Amino acid sequence: MAPTAKLLLADLASSGVKQIPSNYIRPISDRPNLSDVQISDGSIPLIDLHGLNGPNHSTIIQQIGRACQRDGFFQVKNHGIPEEMISIILDIARQFFKLPESERLKNYSDDPTKTTRLSTSFNIKTEQVSSWRDFLRLHCYPLEDYVHEWPSNPPSFRKDVAEYCTSVRGLVLRLLEAISESLGLERDCIDKKLGGHGQHMAMNYYPPCPQPELTYGLPGHTDPNLITILLQDDVPGLQVLRNGKWIAVNPIPNTFIVNIGDQMQALSNYRYKSLLHQAIVNCEKERVSIASYCYPSDDAMIGPAKKLVDKDHPAIYKDFTYSEFHESMWRVKCSTAKRLDLFKAARAD
Ligand code: OGA
Ligand code: NI
Repeated sequence: MAPTAKLLLADLASSGVKQIPSNYIRPISDRPNLSDVQISDGSIPLIDLHGLNGPNHSTIIQQIGRACQRDGFFQVKNHGIPEEMISIILDIARQFFKLPESERLKNYSDDPTKTTRLSTSFNIKTEQVSSWRDFLRLHCYPLEDYVHEWPSNPPSFRKDVAEYCTSVRGLVLRLLEAISESLGLERDCIDKKLGGHGQHMAMNYYPPCPQPELTYGLPGHTDPNLITILLQDDVPGLQVLRNGKWIAVNPIPNTFIVNIGDQMQALSNYRYKSLLHQAIVNCEKERVSIASYCYPSDDAMIGPAKKLVDKDHPAIYKDFTYSEFHESMWRVKCSTAKRLDLFKAARAD
């Protein structure tokens, strides 16, 4: 009997394929170089948030500012999210991706405008090469608008994910205050400027891959949002580009990875950097990561904060709304690293 085509990668991967299908194979010039990667030896800073509201306040703000400016990425510990909650959310994601195919498919959609959906790769309707990933994408703020759309299996999914999202939002708000302060802005500046911002989540599932040298879990991209809080399990895979070299960000239990997105790069007038990153896969172990993305509201005016613009620091970007940015993301085909260039300010010189 001819095998039926699988909508989800998990079901293709678990069928024991020895070679990846041709639609996953990247051109030779665009493959992960699995051997030429620098191991992160603390080069992505690990920042201890203990004492952020106390005696270590100014030291931590300085560390955050330096990390956003130099690395675009940092890790945090003592972030206030309990270890138990972290293990529960990773577990619930694993359980979800292990549900029978028919149960998972109830959530399937290839329409990127849907606010809750399970899908595969990145955008299978438009992309030329697929990526070795399934993902469940959820809108999660305000919770009450979306929670009823979420999967109801595993039975504790809605409760566990809602609790996690609420905790992550608390962390995001503290980080936005710290980042505002590190830029020399009022503490509530970013929160106010981006008013009522949204939160989305992607649960990423990367099955073991028989030929990891030919494909990506997620190809190099910058995040289009404001900041991202990423939780990864204990399997390495995330890499960040620095000075033309991919650096592995290997997992440290109970820490989160924080990265600057495109909107923060614009708001900070390019002081803070939204850097390219990618996820590679391996032939032995499945990998789960959970990304929480903080977004401006659609009508929020982005563009450089006025306080960061002066004679010596002319505005690099013009003012634009988040919905203009979002719309151009779908309309204009360009690498994600070039997306913000469409909103560069006209220079007098
Ligand atoms: C993302 C992302 C990396 C990972 O979801 O935007 O960069 O390791 N994920 O899953
Ligand atoms: Ni990303």
